[in-house]
Amino acid sequence: MTTISIIGSGNMATAIGTRAATHGHTVELMSRNIATAQALAEKIGHGATVGTYGARPAGDIVVLAVLYQAAVDVVTHYGDALAGKTLVDITNPFNADGIGVVTTPGNSVAQQIAAVAPDGAHVVKAFNTIFGGVIAEDKPVDLFFAGDGAEAKAQVAAFLESLGMRPRDAGGLEMTHALEWAGILLVGVARNGAGFDIALGAGAV
Ligand SMILES: NC(=O)c1ccc[n+]([C@@H]2O[C@H](COP(=O)([O-])OP(=O)(O)OC[C@H]3O[C@@H](n4cnc5c(N)ncnc54)[C@H](OP(=O)(O)O)[C@@H]3O)[C@@H](O)[C@H]2O)c1
Repeated sequence: MTTISIIGSGNMATAIGTRAATHGHTVELMSRNIATAQALAEKIGHGATVGTYGARPAGDIVVLAVLYQAAVDVVTHYGDALAGKTLVDITNPFNADGIGVVTTPGNSVAQQIAAVAPDGAHVVKAFNTIFGGVIAEDKPVDLFFAGDGAEAKAQVAAFLESLGMRPRDAGGLEMTHALEWAGILLVGVARNGAGFDIALGAGAV
């Protein structure tokens, strides 16, 4: 289908990369740790490749599968190499107790990324309201996203649909802070009895 670039080689890079590859995409992995990226490319298979950390990604969609503390630095490090790309912020800026976020309205991680992103890049927040283990189950879950740029959002929605997910558009970049709180909601519900194999949804009843 298309090439999806993923920066990071941890749990979410594994879950999103595997699901993307299984659904026909070519996955490019970029990590500051090339050995980890290489090992993950082999694990994902389906022709997954390893790109050079900091170089221009092959894919139009670039998933930032890193910790929230690193996301802005990573985008700054890449600089103009990300010009024109659709940057997918998946981070959850949880506080130490996991019952709140460290960001404030108007200054979500996605908005912080947008502030340093190069010309023509757009930021869409997605995948932060779902557990990696649930992504791996390959079920037709709802997936909330929000961000700027109609074309970038349409691109992400099409990508989610291609993964067998139901894209749920929550609005513009200003809604990304709400999505960060939705991550807290998901974890709260999971911890308080529902378990970690659940997904948030917004379907017709
Ligand atoms: N796990 C979940 O179920 C889940 C669900 C929703 C959202 N999220 C979000 O997804 C993101 C990734 O989570 P994860 O579970 O995949 O974490 P993880 O397994 O710890 O992986 C984190 C990745 O970030 C990279 N990284 C950390 N600091 C970096 C830096 N300064 N520069 C470049 N790369 C850096 C790490 O690279 P190294 O290997 O080189 O350290 C690693 O590849 C987080 O923001 C998390 O909030 C996770």
